[in-house]
Amino acid sequence: MKVLVTGGAGFIGSHLCDLLLARGHEVLCVDNLATGSKNNIIHIENDNFSYVRHNVTKPLYLEEKIDWIFHLASPASPIDYLELPIPTLKVGALGTYNMLGLAKEKNARFLLTSTSEVYGDPLVSPQSEEYWGNVNPIGPRGVYDEAKRFAEAITMAYHRYHGVETRIVRIFNTYGPRMRLKDGRVVPNFIGQALNGEDLTVYGDGSQTRSFCYVSDEIEGIYRLMLSDYSDPINIGNPEERTILEFANFVLKLTGTSSKIIFKELPEDDPKQRRPDITKARKILNWEPKVSLEEGLGKTIQYFKGILKNVIQ
Ligand SMILES: NC(=O)c1ccc[n+]([C@@H]2O[C@H](COP(=O)([O-])OP(=O)(O)OC[C@H]3O[C@@H](n4cnc5c(N)ncnc54)[C@H](O)[C@@H]3O)[C@@H](O)[C@H]2O)c1
Repeated sequence: MKVLVTGGAGFIGSHLCDLLLARGHEVLCVDNLATGSKNNIIHIENDNFSYVRHNVTKPLYLEEKIDWIFHLASPASPIDYLELPIPTLKVGALGTYNMLGLAKEKNARFLLTSTSEVYGDPLVSPQSEEYWGNVNPIGPRGVYDEAKRFAEAITMAYHRYHGVETRIVRIFNTYGPRMRLKDGRVVPNFIGQALNGEDLTVYGDGSQTRSFCYVSDEIEGIYRLMLSDYSDPINIGNPEERTILEFANFVLKLTGTSSKIIFKELPEDDPKQRRPDITKARKILNWEPKVSLEEGLGKTIQYFKGILKNVIQ
């Protein structure tokens, strides 16, 4: 297949490019490097890979045929979308509109990477795809949550009205190598602090829960969804729920640091719990996560050790 990956120079996108190339596909990576980096794709030496720097909020004209579009372009960490509120809304709205237009023109299958944030601060747990969410549209996180909710709505509209073959994955917290140390998400935060001998910052009392999916599991689920014929949203994430405090203690243990845990005030609209119901992914995609938190964190810690070593040298 000839595959377009928007946001392919980002954390998840670059792993997806690796997987697609390993499975024999031709990949065109499109990214404006707003939050991604060429370092994430610099290792790729493959004639089937090409990269174009482009902002997908502007139309993209391509001569060649395209079979699949994976649309990942969007700031994704709270620090990024709080700093880039309007680009986040634009890429969720205009970027998704442009890529759906391209899918329609090329008769390509289109996959949107949506997010568990569409459930907001959920009033039910675990969250199944039928739950409509509890989102504050005008809170600081609204720029991301509502952009993704709009992106889902326009994706379904192109599917229903224009007959475009569409897929929607709702990604739950994913972690692994190529995340940025300072992207504000809890995994790089804790690991970075632990490796630098700093205290780990827990917001609130640490009783809020998250579930963490290792990136190789996440992209396998996304790939299987693209292959499927299922057009309603589907959760892909790890249902093993942990409190943030448990998780901080786990990072302390695995890094062997003498750092301590300190507590700070909870940011506005921080969800108190997050846990995917993956019944559908199990049944429809025959998918479930395989990598344990211990194994995934071990690999991520090794990666960050390498980054920090290079910074020091
Ligand atoms: N990582 C997670 O835990 C998680 C959770 C839920 C959803 N997601 C979704 O997965 C996707 C990838 O997230 P990630 O964690 O890899 O984030 P990331 O920031 O590492 O990657 C996003 C990529 O999109 C690019 N981009 C942003 N705006 C663009 C634009 N206008 N035009 C072209 N490229 C643009 C960035 O430069 C970056 O390379 C996002 O859509 C995000 O919403 C991620």
